[in-house]
Amino acid sequence: MTRSAQSAATATPPQETPADRVVSEAIAFLTGPGAAANDDIPRRIAEVREEIARTGTYRQTRAEITLGARVAWRNHARCVGRLHWQSLKVRDRRDATTAEEVFEACVEHIRTATNGGNIQSTTTVFAPREPGGAQIRIWNPQLIRYAGYRRPDGTCVGDPANADLTEAFQRLGWKGRGGRFDVLPLGIQMPGEEVELFELPPDVVLEVPLTHPDLPWFAGLGLRWHALPVVSDMRLEIGGVSYPAAPFNGWYVSFEIGARNLSDRDRYDMLPAIAEHMGLDTGSTRSLWKDRALVELNVAVLHSFEEAKVRIVDHHVVSKQFCTHIEREERAEREVPTDWTWIVPPLSSSTVPTFHRTYENRDLRPNYYRMPSAWPDPGASSQTSVTVRVREKTRRAVSASSNRPRQSPDSAQTMA
Ligand code: ARG
Repeated sequence: MTRSAQSAATATPPQETPADRVVSEAIAFLTGPGAAANDDIPRRIAEVREEIARTGTYRQTRAEITLGARVAWRNHARCVGRLHWQSLKVRDRRDATTAEEVFEACVEHIRTATNGGNIQSTTTVFAPREPGGAQIRIWNPQLIRYAGYRRPDGTCVGDPANADLTEAFQRLGWKGRGGRFDVLPLGIQMPGEEVELFELPPDVVLEVPLTHPDLPWFAGLGLRWHALPVVSDMRLEIGGVSYPAAPFNGWYVSFEIGARNLSDRDRYDMLPAIAEHMGLDTGSTRSLWKDRALVELNVAVLHSFEEAKVRIVDHHVVSKQFCTHIEREERAEREVPTDWTWIVPPLSSSTVPTFHRTYENRDLRPNYYRMPSAWPDPGASSQTSVTVRVREKTRRAVSASSNRPRQSPDSAQTMA
């Protein structure tokens, strides 16, 4: 994408109509990185203009979507794994018109992207948002997430980050087993329809039980994590077309699990228990018990994924790869919008090269943007009827009435 095309994509003159905006975004995309994907740009632009004038939007080609998704990854300022942007596998499932079909495509995404542990970066693109705003929503922030069950004393069993979603599903009739690592069902809502819940077949979710190479008691903590992070609450925006259901995955960086998910105070909060087992003095911060426990937890994550032959990268390698990415992009005369606070690892920051420099950040399109949660506020509406349908042993479908999605403007781009 040339610099001028990139600025055109972000500028919005005040008198523009929504259709004008789609046209200008489309042109910026088609004349930018899309140029390589299309042999006759002027003809394609004329066609797109005509279609937008008629329908308010246009149907992108497979090649446009493939390139658009890859460039959206490349443009995403909060991703440190962008070296591999060209290898993203893009699955076009715009043909899925029922919740069941979307669910099956998500299962297939998990299966093929997991690839027996040799994880393949993948995105599945479902039908775009309609000009009137109707859209498919996957309620889950990721296709694989653990339930969080709040207890009356204020504590939580499982992942507290998913406690609200867990409660929303429970209000719809879902019954969790009450464990620390229960995989949540998928909540899929088709345009104008009620949400439906589907249990993931257990054999499709690859998980890694955590052990430590030198600390035998570590296995007894009963920790585990899923192999595949598939973000499903970000919309993919390409050339004026928005895809609100476009789950994507890469492979994990060890710190996401070891220095956030299992260690943050408001997540699994495992550092005190690990420090206790290590015999550290938790009475004084100066023993650096948190730091030492954090390192051992990260050692355990890397060791266990390696043992299980599941692809993962550590913060040293990924940071170096990101520097390589910047060099490559500079040679291609492209900017690399970057958010320092997301690129630098949450542990041992000063030991990696990305810490010791500054970056420019800019909102370039195509890109991925986080959406507000799709489930309704419990206080905002009262539920009038719930029906639970059990479809088969491993899958359950639930539908609920008067539980309308909350529609609010998209929040800033994030990728956690
Ligand atoms: N931080 C998120 C998690 O811990 C995953 C976000 C995407 N990460 C990735 N490596 N592609 O689940």
